[in-house]
This record gives sequence, structure tokens and C-alpha cells, in this order.
Amino acid sequence: MKRNAAALAPISLFLLSACAPAVSSAKPEAPTSAVTAPGTGRSEAEGIAAERLHLARAVLASIAGREKEPAGQVFKNVKRLGAVPAIQLIAIMNTAYAKSLGVSCSHCHVVGEWASDAKPQKQIARDMAAMAATINSQLLAAIPNLRGPDPVVNCTTCHRGSIKPALDLP
Ligand code: HEC
Ligand code: HEC
Repeated sequence: MKRNAAALAPISLFLLSACAPAVSSAKPEAPTSAVTAPGTGRSEAEGIAAERLHLARAVLASIAGREKEPAGQVFKNVKRLGAVPAIQLIAIMNTAYAKSLGVSCSHCHVVGEWASDAKPQKQIARDMAAMAATINSQLLAAIPNLRGPDPVVNCTTCHRGSIKPALDLP
């Protein structure tokens, strides 16, 4: 458990440090990047990423001082991720869940009512996590002669920034 938390720490630190600039940069222009659409100053993806960060920061602020406690102790309706530190649950939300689907928090949540299961996508996400775990622990593990020492799939493997995984290459 301790080892696990330590291994996950870099993601939490990334989330915290990524949060910091969002506070100070109240400038209208977002940092530019290769994907910025001409004339808009900010791509749709950057807008969604900024919203995610803003909401993640708001949740972190609301649990200040309790970030390292188990998520199951800090939050109200956690069925799978209860053992990870609370800050780690938020990092998973921001990256593994939201970024990999290319969505903001509101795709699965009624924003602000984080414990609510009102949106079906939230339970789907739990079921997807269970599916990925079954693929990893049973199906992938049973395939001999793979190259990786520890082959895994995760949300990004299939979703790659989209709600609906592709069936064809463009
Ligand atoms: C793909 C769906 C999905 C997205 C996107 C998502 N979440 Fe979640 N969220 C979940 C699921 C599923 C749980 C419950 C996890 C469990 O049961 O272990 C959860 C739980 C939470 C909780 C705990 C609430 C409680 O009291 O039980 C918070 C807080 C939260 N999410 C915040 C966020 C924030 C902030 C974002 C955006 C940065 C976000 N979520 C994006 C699916 C999502
Ligand atoms: C093995 C491939 C695969 C993996 C891994 C996977 N998904 Fe999915 N996911 C799918 C497919 C296929 C659909 C259904 C798309 C459709 O509606 O046709 C889907 C649909 C969803 C939806 C419903 C989206 C909507 O609004 O219609 C959510 C939410 C979701 N996945 C979350 C996740 C999360 C979170 C993870 C990681 C824990 C994950 N998925 C991992 C293949 C995958």
C-alpha cells in the first residue's frame, strides 16, 4: 500500500504543479501550442483541459489537508478507488479518465455533486475499469510470448482521446 502510494506520487505532484500556473495566469490568452486553431487563440482541447484543471483544483481546495488520506475516507461514494490517496483519485479523474476520453468532468459528473451517480457514464467508467482489470489479469496474462514483461491495457489504449474508440484507421 505504501509502496503503491509512492509509485503514484509523481502523478499527484504533476497535478499539483500543473494546478499552480492555472491560478496565477489569469491572462486572457492561454499558452499556444501546435494544435491551437488559427485565430481562436485556444483550441477546444485546451479549453477542456483548462476546465478539468480548474475543477480538479476546486476539489483539491475543498479537501485541503486531507489529500494523503485514502480516497474512501475523504469522499462519499467511492467503490473501486477507495484505497488510493485522495489526491491520487483526483489525478486519475483528470488524466486516466477525462483526458483519455477527451472530455471534461461533466461527461460523467453533475459538476459539484461529485458523489452522485446520476449520469450513467460514471457507472460505465467503473465497469470499464473492471473490464480493463479483467483483460490485464486474465486475458492478456494468458497470452504467451508477448514482448512486454508486464503487458497492460488502460483507458487510453482504446479511447485515445475519444468517447467512442475507433474501429478503423482514418
Ligand atoms: C469517465 C468518467 C469520469 C470522468 C470524466 C471524471 N470522473 Fe470523477 N468519478 C468517476 C467515477 C467512476 C468515480 C467513482 C470511483 C469509484 O467508485 O471508485 C468518480 C469519483 C469522483 C469523486 C469522488 C466523489 C465522492 O464523494 O464520492 C470526485 C471528487 C471526482 N470524481 C471528481 C472528478 C473531477 C474533478 C473530474 C474532472 C477533472 C472527474 N471526476 C472526471 C468518473 C469520472
Ligand atoms: C478494450 C477497450 C476499452 C478500454 C480498455 C476502455 N474502454 Fe471505455 N469504451 C470502450 C468501448 C468499445 C465503448 C463503447 C463505445 C460505444 O458506445 O460504441 C466504451 C465506452 C466508454 C464510456 C461511455 C462513453 C459515452 O458517453 O458513451 C465511458 C464513460 C468509458 N468507456 C470509460 C472508460 C474508462 C474510464 C476506461 C479506463 C478505466 C475505459 N473506458 C477503458 C472500450 C474501452
